[in-house]
Amino acid sequence: MSGTPVRFGLIGCGEIAMQSLKALQAAEGCAVTAVQDVVADLARDTGAKLGVAHFTNVDDLLARSDVDAVVLSTPHFLHAPLAIQAARAGKHIACEKPIACTLAQADEMIAVCRDAKVKLSVNYISRYSPMVLKTKALLEAGAIGKIIRYQIHIAADKPESYWSGGYTGRAKSDWRQSKEKSGGGVLVMNLSHDIDRVMWIAGLVPERVFAEAATHSTPVEVEDNISAVVRFTNGAIGSIDAMSCARGKEGFGNRLYGTEGQIEMAHPLRVFTTREDVPGCKPKEWSTLEVGGALWSTDERTAYFVDLAKAIQEDRTPLISGEEARKVLALCVAIYESAATNRAQSVDWRQ
Ligand SMILES: NC(=O)c1ccc[n+]([C@@H]2O[C@H](COP(=O)([O-])OP(=O)(O)OC[C@H]3O[C@@H](n4cnc5c(N)ncnc54)[C@H](O)[C@@H]3O)[C@@H](O)[C@H]2O)c1
Repeated sequence: MSGTPVRFGLIGCGEIAMQSLKALQAAEGCAVTAVQDVVADLARDTGAKLGVAHFTNVDDLLARSDVDAVVLSTPHFLHAPLAIQAARAGKHIACEKPIACTLAQADEMIAVCRDAKVKLSVNYISRYSPMVLKTKALLEAGAIGKIIRYQIHIAADKPESYWSGGYTGRAKSDWRQSKEKSGGGVLVMNLSHDIDRVMWIAGLVPERVFAEAATHSTPVEVEDNISAVVRFTNGAIGSIDAMSCARGKEGFGNRLYGTEGQIEMAHPLRVFTTREDVPGCKPKEWSTLEVGGALWSTDERTAYFVDLAKAIQEDRTPLISGEEARKVLALCVAIYESAATNRAQSVDWRQ
């Protein structure tokens, strides 16, 4: 990339912001010029790591002429108000997932960013995983025929300390425990990545869902155990299962079934196809494909920022736009509504 880099300001200097910092430092066409956190120590520590200006008041960061875009790494309920404030200050936005807690908030963010002519993107970074991109290419080549089923599954066991400080304890707070501040538990917090990547590569449009959710063994408001069945407009069926209280953990997977085969999205990628013309795959038996990379590597995050910076410079819509991230939230919201009402819910999906 030629010319001046896109200059990012970090809003929120907690756990994930440290990953974004690392990724941005490696990202061609990107620079970090200022940071902000309401916790002075975190702002100071992050600013010192980079030798850049640090603030506790977001107005000070947004007033900087050397900040073109912001990385919003705050609790979920602050995504909408801070994104709207940043857009009105003329800054492009890389917002952490999920886009917001409610669809009304997401819609307002999208509308304000459109009016302000700034880019809004959400960090569903696994779209940049080599394994995900290879699966997308296989699907586009028709390797498994028409998709008729997908399965998304996570069995995690979050330690008690997670609920007041994440995995590292860098920032202490209660937002992960609160339905109002987080929008939900393991579904929106973790599985929304899987939903984003699988629906993106498969081009599936969810129509209705039926779900059950519970909080079994975690003293918090949000769910630690959830299951949903999804019907898609092409007739396919999806199952979504997630736990954050699975003692012994183990179990994570995305699997796609088609009329002519199936793909297990893992490292290595495993493909079964009945077809004879899929490069790298033997017909009617399982093939394993080494794709490199690892899910959740810094490389994915770096690729995300490089691509976003290009979108900003070329004035094009980012790959993971606000509208794309709204789709993920629409499915999550429908799942939560179904679990709360014991009824099937339609999904407020907009192309
Ligand atoms: N993309 C991913 O893979 C990934 C992974 C983990 C977390 N996340 C997301 O990143 C976001 C932050 O999560 P986290 O784990 O870093 O949380 P965290 O609690 O560790 O950090 C949040 C930070 O925001 C700060 N903050 C709170 N209010 C603020 C305000 N008004 N202005 C500026 N800063 C403020 C807090 O002081 C804290 O330092 C969430 O959206 C979360 O879902 C994404």
